[in-house]
Amino acid sequence: MIIRNNQQLSLGSEPIAFVIFGVTGDLTHRKLLPALYELHREGRLTVPVHVIGFARREWDDDVLRDSLKKAIHEFARTRPVDATVVEDLLSRAHYVRSSFDDDSGYERLQQMLSELGLCNVVFYLATPPDAYIDIIKRLGQHQMVDCSGSWTRLVVEKPYGRDLESAEELERVIHQSFREDQVYRIDHYLGKETVQNILVFRFANGIFEPIWNRNFIDNVQITVAETVGVGTRAGYYDTAGVIRDMFQNHMLQLVGLTAMEAPVQFKADNVRDEKVKVLEALQPLEGKAALENTCRGQYVAGLVDGVRVPGYKDEKGVPPNSTTETYLAAKLLIDNWRWAGVPFYLRCGKRLGARVTEIAIQFKQPPLRLFDWQDMGEAAPNALVLNIQPNEGITLTFGAKNPQPRTQIAPVKMQFSYQEAFGSEPPEAYERLLLDCLMGDATLFTRSDEVLAAWRFTSGILKAWEAYPVKNLPIYEAGTWGPACADDFIHRDGWSWRVIQGS
Ligand code: BG6
Repeated sequence: MIIRNNQQLSLGSEPIAFVIFGVTGDLTHRKLLPALYELHREGRLTVPVHVIGFARREWDDDVLRDSLKKAIHEFARTRPVDATVVEDLLSRAHYVRSSFDDDSGYERLQQMLSELGLCNVVFYLATPPDAYIDIIKRLGQHQMVDCSGSWTRLVVEKPYGRDLESAEELERVIHQSFREDQVYRIDHYLGKETVQNILVFRFANGIFEPIWNRNFIDNVQITVAETVGVGTRAGYYDTAGVIRDMFQNHMLQLVGLTAMEAPVQFKADNVRDEKVKVLEALQPLEGKAALENTCRGQYVAGLVDGVRVPGYKDEKGVPPNSTTETYLAAKLLIDNWRWAGVPFYLRCGKRLGARVTEIAIQFKQPPLRLFDWQDMGEAAPNALVLNIQPNEGITLTFGAKNPQPRTQIAPVKMQFSYQEAFGSEPPEAYERLLLDCLMGDATLFTRSDEVLAAWRFTSGILKAWEAYPVKNLPIYEAGTWGPACADDFIHRDGWSWRVIQGS
């Protein structure tokens, strides 16, 4: 049992079925099974968890077990991999071969659950999103969504729809079969320790919250930079672009956590209520305002970590005339009492100069400039940077007197590192999220109204882009920090993007 925020959470006493639709795919192999393995290794699966795979390929139990075993050995976070734990976990793995729209597959699944005596069930959608509606409807039609005296949960991976209308349709179908408290929409950023620490940092410490507002903060810069390209996911990515892949979900979640008010209690609905309020207070970016306050780009060939990589249009599976953006910068304003007038500058993209996710809070300049600054330019001396990854920690920059006769001030840092403080790397996001779902704690999952509020905001930008298509999407060389317009865009306000290590 885990006591979290005065709530007792546990897996209960009955065995659990963890049904994965799309078990043959990448997500299952790279994330889900390695996470279940780590949880089992740590003794957190206190009841037997049966992994039941449902997919189209001609596999059987043995092929499934073999494939999952290889995946755990390849992708487990901790080494060496404990073969006994793997064997034990996979001894309860079973396979149902079926297409997602075949009723007989659901009947066989139902029969398997009943033969194994499993009533507490997680249905995990790890399929391409176009299969979601079929699966959810059939779970409803076969009455697999509620057994009395037990629980059933549905886990939905992003993308939840590709615009406001399709997200609304997905929500409608979900709610025809499932109650909202049964639905766990995953945004894996919320499972990252350092993302959770944003709230702890803000609300468990007395010294930061009083200055966390428009009176003291000049602007906030959120960066989610990746060095990887689209890899093998061009088919999906080219129809999504960075706005659907990262902005509508991960980026807006980071904005929500940075900007939200303190929840009344640290419980799922209280936390989510506050995040929704932030999304609802975002000044809409529509029409010309959307064009003026966003900047898109697409990578061309360049050097990443010294290795020559192809441009986006030359990636396997990308149409040569693609106009999909792989970079996005945006300026957001939050119209509420805490944040009115404070710009939130967001940038994210693939094939950038370094892999970094960070939230930088730039505090206002002191009212008088009494000293000479060294190496500071016009930047504010006080920046508080929440380093989400890869060097998890928190850094505060401030000015200190350089020990020389001339009074020159240099920027110095106070630094907290997870690795140094806690001696280990934080666990993978999926470990925390899967455990929370098994225990029924939805705090770190996205609620229906939150998803729709995020889409409402994002749709304004998408519609403006559609209405005013660009003739030539700005380009940037792989391994650099985005198109030139990204700099113009922030310089206009008298600011620059933070220079990040590796840039
Ligand atoms: C996923 C996106 O949600 O997040 C990927 O679909 C992206 O395109 C990934 O690479 C980034 O996650 P992380 O945890 O590596 O920052």
